Amino acid sequence: MSNLSCIILAAGRGTRMKSDTPKVLHALGGWPMIHHVVKTCEALKPAEIVAVIAPGMDDVAAEVKPHATAVQEKQLGSGDAARAGTAALKNKTGKVLILAGDVPLIQTETLEALVEETADGGLCVLAFTPSDPTGYGRLITDDDLNVTAIVEDRDATAEQKNIVLCNAGAYCVDAKILPGLLEKLSSSNAQNEFYLTDIVALAAAQGAACSYVEAPAFETLGVNSRSQLAEAEGELQNYLRARAMFDGATLIDPMTTYFAMDTKLGRDVIIEPGVYFGPGVTVADNVTIHAYSYLEGVTIGKGASVGPFARVRPTSEIGEGATIGNFIEVNRSVLKAGAKSKHLSYLGDAVIGEKANIGAGTVIANYDGFDKLASEVGKGAFVGSNSTLIAPVKIGDGAYVGAASAITEDVPAGSLAVARARTIIRDGWAALRNATKQKKKAG
Ligand code: UD1
Ligand code: MG
Repeated sequence: MSNLSCIILAAGRGTRMKSDTPKVLHALGGWPMIHHVVKTCEALKPAEIVAVIAPGMDDVAAEVKPHATAVQEKQLGSGDAARAGTAALKNKTGKVLILAGDVPLIQTETLEALVEETADGGLCVLAFTPSDPTGYGRLITDDDLNVTAIVEDRDATAEQKNIVLCNAGAYCVDAKILPGLLEKLSSSNAQNEFYLTDIVALAAAQGAACSYVEAPAFETLGVNSRSQLAEAEGELQNYLRARAMFDGATLIDPMTTYFAMDTKLGRDVIIEPGVYFGPGVTVADNVTIHAYSYLEGVTIGKGASVGPFARVRPTSEIGEGATIGNFIEVNRSVLKAGAKSKHLSYLGDAVIGEKANIGAGTVIANYDGFDKLASEVGKGAFVGSNSTLIAPVKIGDGAYVGAASAITEDVPAGSLAVARARTIIRDGWAALRNATKQKKKAG
């Protein structure tokens, strides 16, 4: 939509969050809240997107880049913020979509409908019917279902509070009337703020067409507090779970699987209970993720098996048909196709070759207190249980490391390395000791 501009209001203090972080940077599904809104806007292909921020919100400006930001000098209300955003628009024609940075789950199709329903020379409000309207502005409509005003919860009469149709905080306004309406806003209300919502009554009074479209309640959840943040996360997770199952993954207990926005799953992926996907996880077909695994920043190849109780940290790769079993931590490491590490190991800054086997309890000691050092285990190599590979070290292809070795040097391909004390056997030693001790005790 080339003749569309988007303004995202994000300068609010977010006092109800009780946080040092700007509200719109709190994460949902691994993305800052405002990133959801930016993505939804980008899908509309508008001429421009401008986010309104408060002075000092440089981290928010960095988050919305390459889109522009306008600074609202004092937080005098959403209407004043919309003024700052409108003044910063380069495009002065067409339609202007005004969205709130704290309403993150609105879908692109919903905004398309909002734009579509905006009459020439008029405006359209996104409405919804929440299960509990407390805190939301109420839509006042006439007999023909035109909106005549929005009344804020704090300013509403007891009778108006019974209205269930609420304002979602998203509006589409013809650019011809927007600056004039914003100009006329006053701050005589319960909060002494310039309410953006008052543009509706002003537009209706000057005879402009004011309509509304209704969106599903979950899309329009506004996040003003930590409990609303949790509620929005819950809605988002339900959506992501449904999408994963629709795309061909089996979630054995969906309510205990947590996804990030960018989680990519192939077909016939099986996810057991309690699995957490942080950002940047891609899973190929036929992979099983066993219970209680925590994954971030990893690409998992076809037919691989992960967990139970695996932790994979960015930037890692689990190759085709590879296995990482219980209590394995993989950190910035690659396991090539068919490699196995099945029990109790830490693999850091390492490349594990094809079909190599890492025995139980192996630790790759990758950190010397200052630097992270890289190691390699060759193709088909075997590392015996409870070994420590002290980085940087290279185990050659097909080499064999005896159990409980502390390896500090490179091991050539095809050779054996054993680095531990020899076993000493003393025939009859224990039996003799027991007999002597028992005799002494018996007096
Ligand atoms: C607002 C609406 C309310 C609606 C609800 C939906 C107003 C007056 N009320 O209430 O009708 O039901 O959203 O979630 O708009 N902001 C600024 N600068 C300011 C003040 C606010 O940029 O000075 C931004 C905030 O960052 C936020 C948006 O405007 O993104 C709305 O402000 P907020 O304080 O969250 O208003 P609500 O009480 O949620
Ligand atoms: Mg809000």
